[in-house]
Amino acid sequence: MTALVIDGKKIAQQLRNDLAQEVKSYSKRPYLAVVWVGDNEASGVYVRNKQKAALETGINCKIYHLAEHTPEQEIISLVQKLNRNSAVDGIIVQLPLPKHVNTRKILETIYSSKDVDAFKAVKVGELWKNIARWSSATPEGVICLLKMVCPSLAGKHAVVIGRSDIVGKPMAAMLLNEDCTVTMTHSKTVDLPTITKMADILVVACGSPKLVKKNWVKKGAVVIDVGISKVDGKLVGDVDFDEVKEVASALTPVPGGVGPMTIAMLLKNTVEAMKKRRKL
Ligand code: GUN
Repeated sequence: MTALVIDGKKIAQQLRNDLAQEVKSYSKRPYLAVVWVGDNEASGVYVRNKQKAALETGINCKIYHLAEHTPEQEIISLVQKLNRNSAVDGIIVQLPLPKHVNTRKILETIYSSKDVDAFKAVKVGELWKNIARWSSATPEGVICLLKMVCPSLAGKHAVVIGRSDIVGKPMAAMLLNEDCTVTMTHSKTVDLPTITKMADILVVACGSPKLVKKNWVKKGAVVIDVGISKVDGKLVGDVDFDEVKEVASALTPVPGGVGPMTIAMLLKNTVEAMKKRRKL
């Protein structure tokens, strides 16, 4: 068996085209504010990619770049100013923040109505209650890809590797909301391959390059690779793609799988936030 390679780049582009059409129908452009603190190289690439994609979709996007040593109170003041600015529909604070900053405090400062990353505790609660209007972009992107290859997710056994606040935890909630049977695993899980081998759907988001091997995967499983690491100058995921493609029925590549979907979902969330705030 050779797996279907899920083309996240193409699917994300289609979603962005549809969103651009929708945005054209509104009298005001949505506005996304991106706060970036410090000079983390990867963060710089991510925020510029987000801005480029937003502008191409007809969404105004401004990057507020602060120096690495900016005091926490100054970052909070900027977020408060963006909260009060009625032109701003969505605010994201690019993570990771520098070590001297309390990340939770900054994220909780964002108004819920503008929290398009959905990282605030109240947004996480809404997700687990299955009443969220929008949720975190990366796991939303994963659900969108899964629905394309697996029209009914109900009853499927989904195994998630990784328990981060950004991916693993919201991923588990979303799969549960789709009526999957969900198993969460992480770095302390004993005998991980025995568990992953039971998965109909395997979502890997642990940041360990090529961790998942062929003998970890059930024949015909759908495997989604959220990992992205640089090894010998090359981007690789958490799944050994060449091995796993021989057993999976469908698999995402890295790059070109989940990554582009994250941006498309962030833009969708920004439009949703605008519609909710402006009662459109
Ligand atoms: N850092 C890594 N992923 C993300 C994301 O989805 N949003 C933000 N704000 N920071 C990130």
